[in-house]
Amino acid sequence: MTIKFKAVNALEQDGKLNIDINDLNITDLYSGDVLIKVLYSTINYKDGLALNYNKGKIMRKFPIIPGIDFSGIVLESDHQKFLPGDEVIATGWGLGETHTGGLSQMARVNGDWLIKKPTGISLKDSMVLGTAGLTSMLSILEFENNNITPQHGPVLVTGGSGGVGSISISLLSNLGYEVIALTRSVENFDYLNSLGASQVIYTNNLNNEGKFLNKGQWSAVIDTVGGDILSSLIPSIKNKGCVALCGNVSGVNLNTNVLPFILRGIRLIGIDSNNCSFETRSIAWERLSEKINILKSNLIITKIGLVDVFKIAEEILLGNIKGRILVDVNLI
Ligand SMILES: NC(=O)c1ccc[n+]([C@@H]2O[C@H](COP(=O)([O-])OP(=O)(O)OC[C@H]3O[C@@H](n4cnc5c(N)ncnc54)[C@H](OP(=O)(O)O)[C@@H]3O)[C@@H](O)[C@H]2O)c1
Repeated sequence: MTIKFKAVNALEQDGKLNIDINDLNITDLYSGDVLIKVLYSTINYKDGLALNYNKGKIMRKFPIIPGIDFSGIVLESDHQKFLPGDEVIATGWGLGETHTGGLSQMARVNGDWLIKKPTGISLKDSMVLGTAGLTSMLSILEFENNNITPQHGPVLVTGGSGGVGSISISLLSNLGYEVIALTRSVENFDYLNSLGASQVIYTNNLNNEGKFLNKGQWSAVIDTVGGDILSSLIPSIKNKGCVALCGNVSGVNLNTNVLPFILRGIRLIGIDSNNCSFETRSIAWERLSEKINILKSNLIITKIGLVDVFKIAEEILLGNIKGRILVDVNLI
C-alpha cells in the first residue's frame, strides 16, 4: 500500500548525518503490528540532542525518524488489543532511537508499546505532558511506594522551569506537598510560583559547602539535572528521604559519599520512563489524566509545527525553553 506522509528523517550518507523534513511512504517505517496516524508529538531534551547532530548518540539506526513520543489514531492493527479508530499514546521503547519515532505524520509500532488514551485526557493534552509528564508521575509513584507523604516535609525539584520540572512542581503541589523549586534564572521565579512552588531557590545560592552531611532539609528531590547540583543536594536529604533521579542536563558524574545513605537511610532511585512496565505506565497515565486541567492551567505550552523542531531543539539544549513544546505534526 502507498501512503505518503511528511516526517523528520535522519539519514547517514558517506559518514555524514543529514536531518530534514522528507516525504516518506509507509514502507519507510520500521516494522510493527499497529499503524497509527500521528497527530501530536513533543520536543523533550532527548529530542533536542537527537536533532542537534545526534548529540549523545540518541539515534542508533539509520535512516530513522526521531521523536521519542507521540499520540494518534490507529489506522490498521494486527494486534488483539487495538482496532482502527482507537486513540493511543506512545512513549519510549526506543522510539526515535532504534525505531522510527513520533516526529512524523505516520508511525508503525509494536502494539505492546501503546497505551489506550484514558478518557479524561485528549490526544493533544497527552502530548502537552508527553514523556516529561510520564517521568514526573513515575517519580511521584516512587515517592508513594517509599512512604514519602506531604507530612514528611518539603520536596525540591531541580531544573524547575523545564518540562519534567514544571509538571513535577504542579503535580506535587496539587497532591499537597510543599514544593521548593531550583532554577538558574531569577526570571523564572514568578512562573515557578504560579505552578505551585512555595519557595524558589536560585541555583547560585545553593549551599555547596561540600560537607558529608548537612542539616536535613528535603524529604525528597525530583532531580532533572544530575552532576554537581545533585552531588550537593544529597547531604541535605532528611532521614529516610528519596531522590528520584531523572536527568543529567548539568552533568553525568555524581560525586557523593556513603554517610547520607548509611546514617540517614536515604534512597537514590533511578527513573526509567523508556522501559518501564506497561502496568506502571497505565497507572501513571490514568493518574495524569485525572489532573490534566490543573496541570495545564499555569504550564507554559508552546505549539509548533514540524518545520520549527530544529530551532526549538537548539533552544532546549541551551536551556532556553520554559514548560513544554507541543508539536502538531500536521502543521507544516
Ligand atoms: N529518566 C527518564 O526517563 C527521563 C525522561 C524525561 C526526561 N529525562 C531527562 O530529564 C532531563 C530534563 O528533561 P526535560 O525534557 O524536562 O528538559 P528541559 O525541558 O530542557 O528542562 C531542563 C531544565 O533544566 C535546567 N537546565 C538546563 N540546562 C542546565 C544546566 N546546564 N545546568 C543546570 N540546569 C540546567 C533548566 O531549568 P531552569 O532554567 O529552571 O534552571 C531547564 O529548563 C533531561 O536530562 C532528560 O534527558 C529523563
